[in-house]
Amino acid sequence: MPDFGWYGPSTYGDRIAGVFDESFVPHDEHSAAGFLASVAGGGPALELGIGTGRVALPLRRLGVEVAGIEASGAMIDRLRQKRGGKRIPVWTGDLADVDVGTGLMYPLIYVVFNTFFALLTQDDQVRCCQNVAAHLTPGGAFVIEAFVPDPSKFDDGQRTETFELTNDLVRLDVMRHEADTQRILGQHVVITESQVRLYPLAMRYAWPSELDLMARVAGLRLRERWGGWHHEPFTSASLSHVSVYERARRR
Ligand SMILES: C[S@@+](CC[C@H](N)C(=O)[O-])C[C@H]1O[C@@H](n2cnc3c(N)ncnc32)[C@H](O)[C@@H]1O
Repeated sequence: MPDFGWYGPSTYGDRIAGVFDESFVPHDEHSAAGFLASVAGGGPALELGIGTGRVALPLRRLGVEVAGIEASGAMIDRLRQKRGGKRIPVWTGDLADVDVGTGLMYPLIYVVFNTFFALLTQDDQVRCCQNVAAHLTPGGAFVIEAFVPDPSKFDDGQRTETFELTNDLVRLDVMRHEADTQRILGQHVVITESQVRLYPLAMRYAWPSELDLMARVAGLRLRERWGGWHHEPFTSASLSHVSVYERARRR
């Protein structure tokens, strides 16, 4: 790993919480909530990396009780400040552990907006799937929403992307790609006349086929895969996917 300084499970959220909802999110929370409600089996649901409740709160408004796991105290504080945010139980911890207490089972566990890739090793990703399987009711669904990796986006192992460019502000993503570890290390960079703000991020991506294999190792199997929250077909041109796993039946 390049010298990135200290980076742990709470680093991303603690640094970005103050501006996350305003600047760094896709505006797909209602579509996501609609899809998740349709597979929730009445709930309750558990979100891994619940963040500020961007998806959990609209899902709750659709009648599904939601709990969450979150590493960042700053993200949980933002959730608590929102309407209905105090009523969502949140366990502070690592999403790889799915540590919600023995015996608690959910018909829906989900992880959206590439958050599964916040687990930086294959071991942690498999451990997460195993712990999900242990907390999933029979017939329950584990939903992963993530991008389809495209290493060709990186030129000589790096990529810079401009999201906003005005007279007074520049917003960039600066990223490095490690092909051997399947990791992307980067910074969201916001530059104004008076200051530069850095929001570090690190992720380990996996192709859908690897996700299927990790799920299989954990005793799960793919039920369905879509190209988006509106049941768009998943094709070789899809940039992201919504994958629904369920517990595999014993032979
Ligand atoms: C990209 S944000 C997504 C938040 C929310 N799911 C959403 O869609 O808006 C990722 C979230 O996962 C949290 N996170 C990252 N790594 C984590 C880990 N290992 N354990 C628990 N939470 C983690 C971050 O603090 C952040 O809140």
